[in-house]
Amino acid sequence: AWTMLNIVEDAIEAVRVQIGDGRAICGLSGGVDSAVAAAIVQRAIGDRLTCVFVDHGLLRKGEAEQVERDFVEATGVKLRVVDAAERFLKALSGVTDPEEKRKIIGREFIRVFEDEQRAILADGPVDFLVQGTLYPDVVESGGGTGTANIKSHHNVGGLPEDLKFELVEPLRTLFKDEVRRAGEELGLPPAMVWRQPFPGPGLGIRIVGEVTRERLDLLREADAIAREELSRAGLDSDIWQCPVVLLADVRSVGVQGDGRTYGHPVVLRPVTSEDAMTADWARVPYDVLSRISTRITNEVSEINRVVLDITSKPPGTIEWE
Ligand code: XMP
Repeated sequence: AWTMLNIVEDAIEAVRVQIGDGRAICGLSGGVDSAVAAAIVQRAIGDRLTCVFVDHGLLRKGEAEQVERDFVEATGVKLRVVDAAERFLKALSGVTDPEEKRKIIGREFIRVFEDEQRAILADGPVDFLVQGTLYPDVVESGGGTGTANIKSHHNVGGLPEDLKFELVEPLRTLFKDEVRRAGEELGLPPAMVWRQPFPGPGLGIRIVGEVTRERLDLLREADAIAREELSRAGLDSDIWQCPVVLLADVRSVGVQGDGRTYGHPVVLRPVTSEDAMTADWARVPYDVLSRISTRITNEVSEINRVVLDITSKPPGTIEWE
């Protein structure tokens, strides 16, 4: 009989056959696809897999720890973490154009990842690169919008000669919901397995204006509150995703206690969707919106206004940048 357990075991066996007694590397993004792919390969070849997590400092609250602590604990994966936050901030300094941000983040990501690959190669040859390519990606060939995504880059060629690898793609025949079930079967952290879509360039494209450490910290706090309240209200499965966007170059007057404030707004962008190609704004109950607004303005100093995006896609995209 067809079960998720069979599918996972077949995938592990196929990887064992493909890699033999070779070594492999895998980049983790914090998302479910790379995590499940890595977990499968770990089961197949153990410590001959080295995972790399490039922390670009643009993830949401708790997501880096999820990879570095929870995922490693759950899988026993051998992980190298690169704290590259400073480097990304420097590269993004002064940049406000969305496409330029995406290019810079993608470029830095590849550079850091390649440096790391070379360091791993110094310990001995590596012939395989693991990727979390899904069936829909295969069909669309090169699908996915990820610029900070090694997938697209490694497929377009142009790789340095010493970093050419044979691809290992254990999720090639699976759809997203099957990948999530495989992740459960493999005992991955639920927060990772059920994570909603999150763009590769991360919070870097959710700050309208220049990306700075202080702005990232503000946005991380506001985003964490919104996620917490939406989950608590049981809305995770009704909502495709809910970007929280910091309008860093906008200020408005407010009043808190006896004092006048002159702070920034954040935008809530809850959407429903089937495939992200089109989307509608989610009718989140007013009392939930109210709790999010009250908590953000109380708990995150410098944010004194919360606004709701009620634009469908088209004409609006899901993200603001
Ligand atoms: P838009 O904003 O185009 O987003 O309506 C559609 C879906 O794609 C995600 N998204 C990205 N994902 N790299 C990614 O990996 C990107 O640069 C990127 N831009 C948007 C977005 O979160 C939504 O789910």
